Amino acid sequence: MTIRINDPDKQAFEQEHEDLVRRLAPECMVLLRNDGTLPLTNLQSVALYGNGARQTIKGGTGSGDVNVRHFVTVEEGLEKAGVTVTTKDWLDAYDQVISAAKKDFYQKLRQEAKAAGQNPILATMGKMVVEPNYQIPLHKGTDADTAVYVLARNSGEGSDRRPVPGDIKLTETELRDIVELNKTYQHFALVLNVGGLIDLTGLEEIKTVLLLGQLGSATGDACADVLTGKAYPSGKLTMTWAPIEDYPSTEGFGDPNNTNYREGIFVGYRYFDSTNTTPIYPFGFGLGYTTFKVSPGTVEVDGETITVNATVTNTGSAAGKDVVEVYYSAPQPDRSLPKPYQALAGFVKTQELQGGQSQVVSLTFNLSSLASYDQKSSAYLLEAGDYALRVGDSSRSTHIAGIVRLSDDVVTQQLHAVGGESGFTDFVPSGPAYSYPEEAHEIATATVVEIDAGSIPTTAVSYSDQPAEITRTEPFSWKDVASGQRSLDEFVGTLSDEDLTYLCVGAYKDSDDLMEVIGDASTTLAGAAGETTHQIEGQDLPVLTMADGPAGLRLSQRYTLDGGKPQPLETSMGADMLSMYSDEELAAMKSRATDSARARTVYYQYCTAIPIGTELAQSWDDDLVQQCGDLVGDEMELFGANLWLAPAMNIQRSPLCGRDFEYYSEDPLLAGRIAAAITRGVSRHQGCATTIKHFAANNQETNRYFQNNNISERALREIYLKGFEICVKTSHPRTVMTSYNLINGEHACNRYDLVTEILRDEWGFDGLVMTDWLVTGGMGPSGDQWPAASAAGCVKAGNDLTMPGIPSDKKDIMDALSNPEHQYSLTRATLQQSARRVLAMILELTGAENQD
Ligand code: BGC
Repeated sequence: MTIRINDPDKQAFEQEHEDLVRRLAPECMVLLRNDGTLPLTNLQSVALYGNGARQTIKGGTGSGDVNVRHFVTVEEGLEKAGVTVTTKDWLDAYDQVISAAKKDFYQKLRQEAKAAGQNPILATMGKMVVEPNYQIPLHKGTDADTAVYVLARNSGEGSDRRPVPGDIKLTETELRDIVELNKTYQHFALVLNVGGLIDLTGLEEIKTVLLLGQLGSATGDACADVLTGKAYPSGKLTMTWAPIEDYPSTEGFGDPNNTNYREGIFVGYRYFDSTNTTPIYPFGFGLGYTTFKVSPGTVEVDGETITVNATVTNTGSAAGKDVVEVYYSAPQPDRSLPKPYQALAGFVKTQELQGGQSQVVSLTFNLSSLASYDQKSSAYLLEAGDYALRVGDSSRSTHIAGIVRLSDDVVTQQLHAVGGESGFTDFVPSGPAYSYPEEAHEIATATVVEIDAGSIPTTAVSYSDQPAEITRTEPFSWKDVASGQRSLDEFVGTLSDEDLTYLCVGAYKDSDDLMEVIGDASTTLAGAAGETTHQIEGQDLPVLTMADGPAGLRLSQRYTLDGGKPQPLETSMGADMLSMYSDEELAAMKSRATDSARARTVYYQYCTAIPIGTELAQSWDDDLVQQCGDLVGDEMELFGANLWLAPAMNIQRSPLCGRDFEYYSEDPLLAGRIAAAITRGVSRHQGCATTIKHFAANNQETNRYFQNNNISERALREIYLKGFEICVKTSHPRTVMTSYNLINGEHACNRYDLVTEILRDEWGFDGLVMTDWLVTGGMGPSGDQWPAASAAGCVKAGNDLTMPGIPSDKKDIMDALSNPEHQYSLTRATLQQSARRVLAMILELTGAENQD
């Protein structure tokens, strides 16, 4: 039941949600270095510097931005904690430097876009001002003995990050100031307010570095809690940190037309370990305010289920939590199916452990979940031999717990080939892999447990047939379906081709102005990104409202009602996107809003920003993430959103991807489990569901609507689809959003093999699939090789809904119905099938509401 809040003051739920985020956030922070400087207990005053100190970033830009009432900056958080900030002059001076730089930057972008005849928002989406160099005296008037430097970076959809000073690398000014402060102050800590990799080359002498990240509404409070020791960090990296040149994905990244995923399955630590390339910080790494020892215990098997036991002991004196990570190294009898040195098999976060306290943990998984995909036979295969199980608390600090020996090869799943051809052979590591001094001895003396190949079943898949047409029926009211008197099939039989088409194109507007439908295309929920159709005449068909994420709900903060319909008083676009408008344009928008507000009651929708995706995953804690999903679900129920366009769970293939901050990890198991946890949290709420996105391989923002990824079927299945598979199979998400990009020459949303054969037939997904926004709209810049996606192609592929729904989508589908020569010619039965899925989801998510 939607609540309309007409009280501008902070509501109780806002405070509760903010408190929750503050309590959970320290578990997402990763302590990278500490020489004992942290925690800064009894901190009275601090010399605070850096671009993130006052201009703190709570989360990136674009659709993933959340319009909060207020969020706490680092400066504010410290002051609220009673700490005096002694460097106001420096912070004031920096404000001036950056606001001048931003003004110039956006003005130039606006002019360029105008000269090129492009829409300024579209042409410049996600472009960030590169941090300028400047001279601001560091020590004027400060008598603190402690300095904290907060280094921030921002990014967002539409643009990628750049391997240059001021983005991935530090500027000369930053390097100079950080080194100087470290020398001058008795205590010094570097705090990273970033959403992804930052190259710390040149800062080797800095001994205390906290990856604060971007934690949403409570960023500054949580930072103060951890700096002063009121709370402790317990996150672990979910992406390997290494010099940008060392990632195999860096070569060729950003090509507007084609990206070749030549590294195949060797993504992230799978690459660094298998090629013995030393990272700066390995996957799974993170310190605490105490130390831990993880001692491998026994390995047990029951059928094909493996249990690995371990004891974790807090070997220091402060309280803390650790993460126990289990990795496996699979046998490679003749190396015809190359495997990484190791891959994650399971993980668990400990409870809080006091100094000296221990906890025994058990991690369970099936041997078949460790199978590799053999393209030659289109099957998941477990090769006979020894599976070494490694236990530790980072990918580079494990010990052998035991060996599982498989008597014979087993085909765990017989599938058929999908995904098309990449056009090249994947990379295979040739040199020695990473090792550690005791490894050979540990393997030689490990306990071996045997699994009989006969105990592991082979599963087969039955792929869909073409659907049969639903017979035409005399019209009747949707209410009869909602009340259970008539069936959905019968209702579908009443619909004309045109109505079926409307159901498959979102909230269709007779407008060619794409800006009217970007990110703000709902007339039911102010500021929501989109909704399903209103065009079915004579039927009071409910609509499904869709609001963005993944760092909370993105809605307009204020709206009024006009004839019962919400009218946003401001756009739900975030502040950075609004920078693209001139002062005059902004003033005009504001005065329109004020006139309308004067006339009517104003309602408020202040949402909470939760930590960005990467931070949530860095907690390695399914329960914590589920709680955040629950928080979002609460706000969805309150404001009336059915679908949350989140979680975003693409693999972090390259640190250069501008949306990595929204994503979880370079590892599919971790990404899948975190997405499943947040899905469970949201699904606890009546009428609310997640939309897992962007399916699949949305790993680059440059030219994102027209960018083709060439990927082998094996890498696609084992890396880029695996997280989605885990999420679908374990948490029953109700909707999926396909990605903009092409895969091996065809748009993801137009690929029948991806959307129907893999998602539905192989994994059993029984919900609704929608496109990403305007994938069919021919939005620029367009590269010069690939066409826009087709709405008819979407229906044919089983991607039911083209969002947000524009006139050319309707035309395309209607043409495909009547023209057998259309590239994606359609039968009425196929169209009925997609329309039926849209209706089924409307019924599922609004059913209870209708019966009230
Ligand atoms: C983004 C999606 C988002 C959609 C709706 C697109 O630009 O890629 O992640 O959900 O807009 O705002």
